[in-house]
Amino acid sequence: MSSLKSIGNKFFSTSFKTYKSDHIPKGIFKASIAPRPIGWISSVCKSGNHNLAPFSYFNAVCDIPPTIMISTTDQHIEGGPKDTLQNIESTGHFVVNIVTQQLYEQMNLTSADLPRHTSEFDYADIKWLKSDFGESRRVENSPIQFECKYFTSVQLPQENKTSVNKMIIGTVIAVHVDSNILDENGRVDYAKLKLIARMGYNDYLAINPKDIFVGKRPAANNILPKE
Ligand SMILES: Cc1cc2nc3c(=O)[nH]c(=O)nc-3n(C[C@H](O)[C@H](O)[C@H](O)COP(=O)(O)O)c2cc1C
Repeated sequence: MSSLKSIGNKFFSTSFKTYKSDHIPKGIFKASIAPRPIGWISSVCKSGNHNLAPFSYFNAVCDIPPTIMISTTDQHIEGGPKDTLQNIESTGHFVVNIVTQQLYEQMNLTSADLPRHTSEFDYADIKWLKSDFGESRRVENSPIQFECKYFTSVQLPQENKTSVNKMIIGTVIAVHVDSNILDENGRVDYAKLKLIARMGYNDYLAINPKDIFVGKRPAANNILPKE
């Protein structure tokens, strides 16, 4: 369906095309909301199997206290919720590991559809560290890791009966930062961090410090009308 622009009582075709939500051409939704950060989530099930999987429906949602969300969509290959969702809801602890260029291959391997009781730590040969506040592991080579406590889950709309679309919200209870990615003022140095993010389709973005610019919010006294 193409949009029509009206001038007086005449209608002209514009370059916009309008699609109802169930007919959006494949990939446009995710490609338009990009880059999306990647949360590489480690969790553990009640019987002790350690899980690791990437999520790009991931973001910060508030900062006092620091709070994040991830959404699991679709389903596990064996049916039902993905391991990450099941584990977090049952144990209450998980870790968000930040993904760098160097970790891309391993991160991608951990998105494979593996049987429920196979650990991605073994499958992708991931080095790990113990957490301080729970049983989920930290990815050793990830330079920033957030230990999180499960806050709540939000059931999302589901058109497909087999999907389990849920948003998990977690409170960050501890941050582990490798000092090698900080500058002399203790700020994150993007040249050292070498962050990657998810674009649409099969595209990724390697964050290049040359593309970063500084923007400051306007001071309120520049906007309010002068008396
Ligand atoms: C970069 C990347 C981002 C992904 N983002 C999501 C996401 O936001 N939500 C989701 O359900 N699956 C996402 N996936 C797919 C999951 O990682 C995949 O289904 C994984 O097997 C889930 O593992 P689990 O069952 O161990 O939790 C993503 C995969 C990749 C490679």
